[in-house]
Amino acid sequence: MFLYVLGLVAVWFIYRWLKETQRVPNKEDKYVYVTGCDSGFGNLLARHLDKLGFRVVAACYTEKGEDELKKMTSDRLTTIHLDVTDSESVKKAAAVIETLVGQKGLWAVVNNAGVAFPSAPHDWLKIDDYKSMLAVNLLGVIDVTLSVLPLIKKAKGRVVNVASVFGRISPFGGAYCVSKYGVEAFNDSLRLNMAPFGVKVCCIEPGFFKTNVTNKTLVKNNVNELWDRLPQEMKDDYGEEYLKIFYESMDQRFKQLIDADLMKVVSCMEHAISAVHPRTRYSPGWDAKTIWLPLSYMPTWITDGFFLKYSPKPKVSTLK
Ligand SMILES: NC(=O)c1ccc[n+]([C@@H]2O[C@H](COP(=O)([O-])OP(=O)(O)OC[C@H]3O[C@@H](n4cnc5c(N)ncnc54)[C@H](OP(=O)(O)O)[C@@H]3O)[C@@H](O)[C@H]2O)c1
Ligand SMILES: *[C@@H]1O[C@H](CO)[C@@H](O)[C@H](O)[C@H]1NC(C)=O
Ligand SMILES: *[C@@H]1O[C@H](CO)[C@@H](O)[C@H](O)[C@H]1NC(C)=O
Ligand SMILES: *[C@@H]1O[C@H](CO)[C@@H](O)[C@H](O)[C@H]1NC(C)=O
Repeated sequence: MFLYVLGLVAVWFIYRWLKETQRVPNKEDKYVYVTGCDSGFGNLLARHLDKLGFRVVAACYTEKGEDELKKMTSDRLTTIHLDVTDSESVKKAAAVIETLVGQKGLWAVVNNAGVAFPSAPHDWLKIDDYKSMLAVNLLGVIDVTLSVLPLIKKAKGRVVNVASVFGRISPFGGAYCVSKYGVEAFNDSLRLNMAPFGVKVCCIEPGFFKTNVTNKTLVKNNVNELWDRLPQEMKDDYGEEYLKIFYESMDQRFKQLIDADLMKVVSCMEHAISAVHPRTRYSPGWDAKTIWLPLSYMPTWITDGFFLKYSPKPKVSTLK
């Protein structure tokens, strides 16, 4: 009986493996639009897809990003300037893409651009801190998607959204988790709306990887800036010790969790774009698979207990 079950499991894995190794034909005719290509995953993905033969439209936030990417890639790759928070910029990019792709339509858009700051306990923040992040991470994703959706429907193509494990579980304050939960909701309903048109929607939920998003210096600068502007009363509630412990535990956590192999994420993105049967959800990173996703399925009292145990406490804390 045991062997029988084991056999069935093996057959299922082989079936899935065979199904997932198939790739779409005619890469050289397929246009892929990637946002946030200045650095991190987006930059690596643009170069990787270019090597594979896709026609990449790489949207960069900075001119420097465009110049550097051009130097490293073939002339199949086109760079464009894009600020996802500026609707005019999004429209302009969509118009350029429409002329580029012509009758074939756009094969895929990868919504990768994102920011991670300002992040801090909610009571440290002001509404504008939320607005600026939601503008990039959530409204930017929606605006870019809508701007090219007609072209994607034409190609029966794909929308690939980069959310995060923090779109599944929400252990720290600020708009980051809020924005990523929003991306997940957008992804889910878009999948249903687009299914009749033959458009597939995939979601990538990476764990911790070594990019500017997880750069310790940048995180520290962000927290320091927010701390400095707090009223003295709040500083007294939290106590200077809070910051010290926060930084120590961050150093430790980052050391344990951060993976420098960005290719793990980029391979998932590439699969979502080029596989005949893409998965609907990818969770690259061992921390995503072994910590964050299992936690996200647990009852709230367990996850709350876990996070409270491992996070620094304000000086006036009434918790034991
Ligand atoms: N690294 C991780 O551990 C991790 C984990 C889960 C999810 N993610 C997500 O992965 C995505 C990519 O991030 P990354 O880790 O590769 O970090 P990254 O290197 O900072 O990449 C983000 C990119 O977005 C660009 N960008 C920022 N604001 C923009 C705007 N208004 N319009 C257009 N582009 C803008 C950035 O440009 P500049 O460099 O010029 O600012 C940068 O190129 C993000 O959505 C992030 O939330 C990352
Ligand atoms: C971080 O961002 C800066 C510009 O903001 C860029 O020059 C640098 O290459 C990025 N670092 C990484 C590791 O992507
Ligand atoms: C994103 O959409 C896919 C279908 O395209 C769905 O299966 C998946 O659950 C969604 N991702 C998340 C994490 O909501
Ligand atoms: C983190 O950011 C700082 C400041 O921009 C930069 O000097 C440093 O090289 C970055 N570190 C990594 C690992 O990208």
